[in-house]
Amino acid sequence: MVIAVTPKDRLALALDVDNDREALGIVAELKDSVGVFKVGHQLFTAYGPDIVRRITGMGGRVFLDLKYHDIPNTVAKAAAEAVKLGVSIFNVHSLGGLDMMKAAAESARETAEKLNLPVPTVLAVTILTSMDEKSMRKELKITRTLQREVVHLARLAQRAGMHGVVASPQEIKTLRRAVRGAFVILTPGVRPAWADKDDQKRVMTPGEAIKAGADFIVAGRPVLKANDRKAAVEKILEEIITVNDKGRKPEIRDRRSVETPKESGA
Ligand code: C5P
Repeated sequence: MVIAVTPKDRLALALDVDNDREALGIVAELKDSVGVFKVGHQLFTAYGPDIVRRITGMGGRVFLDLKYHDIPNTVAKAAAEAVKLGVSIFNVHSLGGLDMMKAAAESARETAEKLNLPVPTVLAVTILTSMDEKSMRKELKITRTLQREVVHLARLAQRAGMHGVVASPQEIKTLRRAVRGAFVILTPGVRPAWADKDDQKRVMTPGEAIKAGADFIVAGRPVLKANDRKAAVEKILEEIITVNDKGRKPEIRDRRSVETPKESGA
C-alpha cells in the first residue's frame, strides 16, 4: 500500500485535461515533484487503460479515480484489473456497502499476492461533496447529519479493509478523531492562498489540510492553470514541508517505505 512519507508523496495532481499528449507532457514535466497523478473518468474514458500504462511507463505513479460502485463480484474483478494495471491508488464508493468494499480490498490483496505486485492503496468515497445535507435527506432519505453519515461510512470502510477515505477539507478533523489507527485521508478541494478558488467553495490551503490530518492532497487547476507549473508545484511542496517540519505526521510515523508490497488491508 502506498503511504505518504515525503512532501512530494503527499501531492496528487489531477490530470483533468482532455488529451493524452497534454497529460503525458505534464507527467514528463512534473513526475519528479508530484507523488501521484490522478486519472479520472474523462481521461480514462477517452484513452482507456493505455493512458495509465503510459504514465507508469514514464515513471509516474497513478491514482485511478473511477469510484467503483457495483455488485461485489464485479467490483472485485475491476479491483484485480487495477492491481494488474499497476495503479498505486484506486477508489470505490462506500455506498456500495460492506460486502462490496470487502470484495474490493480482498481482491486487491489476493491479486497482488498472486502476481507478486504491490498492493495499491484502496480508498472509499463517503458522500460526494457535490451533495449537501438537504439533498442527502431529500433524495437519499438519509436522515443523519452529513458529518455523522460521513463518519459512519468511514468506519464501515475501515471495517471492510479499506485503507482510507477521500474526504473534503471540512471532514478531516472529525474523521481523524472518529477513526482509529492508520487510516489514510486524501483530500481534494485544496487551494493555496495564491490560487483561484475556481468552483471550489469550502477550501483549505495545502498546509491547513495536512495540519488538520490529511495524508494526501489533490490539486488540479492551481497547477494546471499556472504559467509555470513546476513553480506552482514547488510552492505547494514548500507549504507541505513547513507543516511536516512542525511535526505533523501522526498516521504515518511507523511506516517503512512509500510502497510496501504485499501489505494487508486496514
Ligand atoms: O482543479 P481542482 O484542484 O479543483 O481539482 C480537484 C480534483 O479533485 C478534480 O479532479 C475533482 O474532480 C476532484 N474532486 C474534488 N472534490 C471532491 C472529489 C473529487 O474536487 N469531493
